[in-house]
Amino acid sequence: MSPDQILAELSERRRQDLPTHGGRTLAYVYDSGLAAADEIGRQALAMYASANGLDPTAFPSLLSMEADLVAFARTHLHAGDAVVGTVTSGGTESILLAVQTARDAARVERPAMVVPSTIHAAFAKAAHYFGVELVAVPVGAEHRADVAAMTETIDRLGDRVVLVAASTPSYAHGVIDPIEELAAVTRERGLRLHVDACIGGWILPWMPDAAPWDFAVPGVTSISVDLHKYAYTPKGVSLLLHADAGLRRPQFFAYADWPGYTMLNSTMQSTKSGGPLAAAWAVVRLIGSEGYRELVEHTLTGTRALAEGIEAIDHLHLVERPDTSLVVVGTDDAVDVFTISDLMLDRGWFVQPQMRFGDEPANLHLTISAATADSVPEFLTALREAVAEAAVAGPVRIDPALAEAAATLDPDTLDDEAFDGLLALAGLAGGDGQVAVPDRLGPVNALVDVAPPRVREALMVAFLDRLTR
Ligand SMILES: Cc1ncc(COP(=O)(O)O)c(C=O)c1O
Repeated sequence: MSPDQILAELSERRRQDLPTHGGRTLAYVYDSGLAAADEIGRQALAMYASANGLDPTAFPSLLSMEADLVAFARTHLHAGDAVVGTVTSGGTESILLAVQTARDAARVERPAMVVPSTIHAAFAKAAHYFGVELVAVPVGAEHRADVAAMTETIDRLGDRVVLVAASTPSYAHGVIDPIEELAAVTRERGLRLHVDACIGGWILPWMPDAAPWDFAVPGVTSISVDLHKYAYTPKGVSLLLHADAGLRRPQFFAYADWPGYTMLNSTMQSTKSGGPLAAAWAVVRLIGSEGYRELVEHTLTGTRALAEGIEAIDHLHLVERPDTSLVVVGTDDAVDVFTISDLMLDRGWFVQPQMRFGDEPANLHLTISAATADSVPEFLTALREAVAEAAVAGPVRIDPALAEAAATLDPDTLDDEAFDGLLALAGLAGGDGQVAVPDRLGPVNALVDVAPPRVREALMVAFLDRLTR
């Protein structure tokens, strides 16, 4: 194929995706609205796409750019000279490494980590990969970590605890956990405390009234901050910072006992593209501290306007008052979030349904970026219309027999054929087992929502398995 044909085909395929720019996709992507930042990021990404972060002596420019990014973060996260950092590929990798490092430093049998139930799913993945038990403690008022309950759990588990973690803010509810209080508990017991600031860590430094949450708090031993979120850099960049080099040491891996090069890695990837790191370096330099302050002010002004507007719409309420730029919306029984989400997509807006959790009904998650803040009135108009239409349609009705079956299934007893049948019943596959994603996900989501988490997981894995065959 010619370059022109290839680019035309890429553009054609790209049209199937959600838009990454324009501020109308309120999850997954972050848009500064600054064309110059996007352009410099793209250029740096291309310039460094083939550079390999595997060996810092062969590609010293990557090492120096990593140092610059860590230095920039340190000045904004009240970090002293002892704080060290690593650039990783994303929030999940930063979290995986924080957990692996804590586990390997402690070397205890049956290691456990104590977290609020609102902690990001990446911690469950780390628990799964590294054999660390995830002990999730129900949250307290306003969906914030319950320090008394976490302390009780920490003391009950005793020496098994290798890590305590909390969020600033949590993805699901957008609220900040009480880091100072938790740090007092972990410090007294000599435990590691990881602050998951993946989504808030490039907002909070420019919020003068935020309660202390970073290295200003004695006892915080590591922090994850994603640059591919509110630093508005291309995808593939997060920072994992440790309070000192000793705490970080088990993160590094070296292997010399084979006939090839001595493998020496600071992250899970070995060969890694220099592109995302160079792009992040370029975008952070272009926007700069003052630029981020302006973006944060703009984003938070937009978030407040959006939250107020939502409160004024019939059938909707805020699940919590947003602490930063994440808004979580609940509904009354006259409408359902899955239908609203479909109707918003019809109007060119992506909002993310979050399934029920325990006693809490499903809700809608909105991540506000600077570009979304430019179009709050349009968003509210679309939402008002979508909710009115959803109220006329009424909530998705699920066949009670199907709901009962979904709620009581034991996924461990099901074979491939049974999953094919279930996927077809849920509207995600034809009778031949070929998966087919319907245009309207509302009815599928509403059915999946009544299934308990274990069933949902098994169903989604079966779906992905078929999707990728
Ligand atoms: C609080 C928090 N932690 C971790 C993550 C995981 O980050 P990633 O998707 O970059 O792996 C996210 C992503 O939204 C997040 O919001």
